[in-house]
This record gives sequence, structure tokens and C-alpha cells, in this order.
Amino acid sequence: METVAAALPHALPLGTAVNQRGNLEVGGCDLVELARELGTPAYVVAEDDLRTRARSFHEAIRSRHRDCDVLFATKAFPCTAVCRTFVQEGLGCEVGSAGELHMATRAGFDPARIHFHGNAKTEEELGAAMRAGVGHVVLDSLNELERLERLAVQLGLTQKVLIRVTPGVAGDTHHAISTGQSDSKFGFLPDDARGAIDRLRGARALELVGLHCHIGSQLFELEPFRAAVRTLATLGEFPVYNLGGGLAAAYTAGQHPPRIEEYVAAIVDAAHEFLGGDKRLLLEPGRALVANSTVTVYTVQTVKRNVSTWVGVDGGMSDNLRPMLYGAEYEALIADRPLTRGTERCHLAGKHCESGDVLARDVALPDPKPGDVVVVPATGAYGHSLANNYNGALRPPIVFCREGAARVVVRRENPEDLVIRDAG
Ligand SMILES: Cc1ncc(COP(=O)(O)O)c(C=O)c1O
Repeated sequence: METVAAALPHALPLGTAVNQRGNLEVGGCDLVELARELGTPAYVVAEDDLRTRARSFHEAIRSRHRDCDVLFATKAFPCTAVCRTFVQEGLGCEVGSAGELHMATRAGFDPARIHFHGNAKTEEELGAAMRAGVGHVVLDSLNELERLERLAVQLGLTQKVLIRVTPGVAGDTHHAISTGQSDSKFGFLPDDARGAIDRLRGARALELVGLHCHIGSQLFELEPFRAAVRTLATLGEFPVYNLGGGLAAAYTAGQHPPRIEEYVAAIVDAAHEFLGGDKRLLLEPGRALVANSTVTVYTVQTVKRNVSTWVGVDGGMSDNLRPMLYGAEYEALIADRPLTRGTERCHLAGKHCESGDVLARDVALPDPKPGDVVVVPATGAYGHSLANNYNGALRPPIVFCREGAARVVVRRENPEDLVIRDAG
């Protein structure tokens, strides 16, 4: 089994294997059988992969720093079962809207360990956050500061806040998911942060406890994280530092992001060097916790050979928008012959009415045919969360697999779901 596992793409969930029938198994469940039983497309999650990565984050930070917490960035995979899994693993979370807050508290996250984010939080959202007892609101603008202060006074409570700092550090990622550069809609530039810090000294009902920064997502290099911490240190000393998420996940064979332990070690080292060892440190990973836990299974509907070979599947930009939003790359394999080397370069095309709806380009598939079950690894982060109903697509189910048992934790949409909110 070891040698077989080594031959599989490393973007697959931990524990993925090839069974005696030659079929790919995730969480001990045969993907060909699952596709037959539950239909496609479907997100298949290896529950143990989620748990292992959560434990790696915890162990990596706890072994290096006393006062710390790990917060799951719920936007990466907002579903009750994923949230509950991380509640069981002892994580807190961050949310970026009242909707995510609702899901997170319903799933059992302790409100006191929730950080509430957003560059344009509404009055309703701020009120909901404070009424829910959210531990920290992360302030993103002076407008918000004033709005939150007024609401906190009205509600008669004192709200702990952090200031989100935009440190002027751009990571090596797509511009659409880079947030640390100076020209950003997120956070306060360092000089503006100083102004906000002064303003908060005299604030009624708001208690400034620390700083936050999140410089971007899918980052491979560790130096930008260090540079960001160095900038935070220029703003004075605070008891709490939330240093965001951003660690890259591997989507393809050529991608080798730092291991969780390496990333955490670099952040903690930077914090000790620039902020001191006595601060409360928080990390907010999303992608690195969930991306590799999940594969999407599709069924091939058509194979068309013209200038290229176009393998058309029963999903596409409705279940994975990332290739279209930021040119994200994926690999693909066929569930009943995952180890057979493909000889034909194919484009894995979605079923939607846009030429850009291509899930993976130039993937080598072994003689693809209609009816084949195609598996795309590493779809756990920002797949389900960005899913949509384009062309009346019915969003896929989420299936948790563990030790050979599968359970549907989010059902497939049905046509009635498409009109359920329509009033006319
Ligand atoms: C404030 C904040 N924290 C954490 C994250 C998680 O980032 P990642 O999924 O790259 O770890 C995000 C993602 O955009 C974010 O906006």
C-alpha cells in the first residue's frame, strides 16, 4: 500500500489509497461506488485529514508558545459538519459576515473565541456580533470604529477590538487574494493604524486589545509573514496579536508549500523576535486546514477531440470557481485507474455556457470515456463556499468519509431549491 500511496498525487487527502479493485479510496470509501450511490458531482471529504491538520496546527503552536489559539477561517469551507469537526478538535474560528457567524455559533464554536472580520461590516452585522458575545471584532476602518462605538454604548457593553493592519507587504500570490499590499481595501495602513490606536484610547465601550494582519492567501514564501510581524511591532505593544492565515496548499505535483510545522515555527519565531514571548498569539488558517481534505468526483459526459481533447464533466464553475477567478490549477485522475499513466493531454471542461469554464488544463488522462468517474483533488478550500447555481446547477452534496463509512453532511440541491425564494 505504501508504494501505491507514494505514486498518487500528493494533493489527495491523507490516507487515500487504491483498493484491490484498483479504485481510488478516500477515507476508506471507494469513489467509483460512492459516485454510483450518491451521484456526481460530489465533494468527498476525508474526515481524518481535517482532524490531522487541525492537530498539526495546535501541536506546532502549543509546543512553541504558551498563550495561543488556532482559529478556523470559516469562509474556506463553511459547512456545519466541518465547523463541528474543528469544534471537536478544539479550534476557535473567524467569521466575515453575520451569515458565517450564524453558522459558526450554530455549529458550536464558543462566541468568545470568534473573531469578526470584514471591510464593510453593516450596522446589523456589528449588532449581531455583539449580541452573540463575539470575543473580538477586528476593526477595518474609522467609519466602523465609530459605528461600533455607538452601538456598544447603546447595548451597554464593552467590546474587545483588534485593529487590522495592512503592513504594505505583498506575498507571492494572485492579486485577487493578496491583501497585505498598501493599496488594499482591507485594514489600516500603519500610519492610519496609529491614528486609530490614539482614537481608541478615548473610546467609550471599546477596549483595544491588539492588532491583526492577514497578508493574503496561498502563500508559499515565509519571509512576507515575518515582514508583516516586523511592521506590527512598530505600532507599540499589545497583549493580543492575530497573525491571520495564508499558508499555501498543494494543488498540483509541482507545488510544495511549507509544512504546517515550518510555517508555524516561522511565525512564532518572528513573533518572539519582534513582539516578545509574552503575547497572546492567534493564527487563522483556512486553506491549509481544509484544501487537501476533499476531492470532487465528476462523471465524464462527453469526450470531444478537435484541436485539443475536451473531456466534459457534469460540474464546473458552479462547484469550483477558482480556476475561472484566479487561474487556479488542478490535476485530475480517473477513479478506476488512478495509477494508469495518461498519454493524452486533455482539458477537463465544465458543463456551463462559458468557454472559460475549464476545471483543469493539460491534464494527462488515460483514454477518458463517457461514464468515467473523474476525481479532482484539493477542492476543500473555497470550493463549496464559492459554489453557485449558474445555469441552474444544483450544488453538490458534501460527503464525509471515515474508516470506510460515508455520510452525507450537506445534501445535493434539488430543482425546487432553485425557486424556493422566488415570490413571483
Ligand atoms: C481575515 C482572514 N483570515 C484568514 C483567512 C484565511 O486565509 P487562508 O485560507 O489563506 O488561510 C482569510 C482569507 O481570506 C481572511 O480574510
